[in-house]
Amino acid sequence: MKPIYLIGFMGAGKTTIGKELASCLNQDVIDTDEEIVMREKKNINDIFEEHGEEYFRNLETLILNEFDNRAGIVTTGGGIVVKPENRKKLNEKGIVFFLYASPEEIFKRIENDHSRPLLKGDKKRLIQELYEKRMPLYKETAHVVIDTTNKDKAEIIQEIIDCLG
Ligand code: S3P
Repeated sequence: MKPIYLIGFMGAGKTTIGKELASCLNQDVIDTDEEIVMREKKNINDIFEEHGEEYFRNLETLILNEFDNRAGIVTTGGGIVVKPENRKKLNEKGIVFFLYASPEEIFKRIENDHSRPLLKGDKKRLIQELYEKRMPLYKETAHVVIDTTNKDKAEIIQEIIDCLG
């Protein structure tokens, strides 16, 4: 079976949903952010600060390449779609679910979170800007869009399972 990829904006619930989905389907799961933090032995803020965004993006690509031929679930950082080669790989190698949430909903969910280096400053404005840039990229990469608005975890997981047939 092809890998299942979960993509979407920061705060969309990719990591949480991916872990529960994996246990429902009895599959392995990896999270690209968690892999990077484990390998670098640093948190994401520190990686961005010390090495910059490009270094982080290259690590994301490296991890995608390592896992593209294994069955299982891969949950991704919100910026994985920024690099064209990642979009191509995700779309060609796996089944890609885009977990959609509106920018207002995203803001509510991550208003008090300080772990995301790209949202330092005026969070509302930064979310809106990134959201507009990335929305077409998520849509271009995904095979299935799952609207997470007003749905609990169980409903979202069931929708994904139904799509997998
Ligand atoms: C990022 C999203 C984060 C993390 C990093 C960059 C982004 O992951 O990879 O802070 O560019 O959208 P989450 O989507 O899990 O928050």
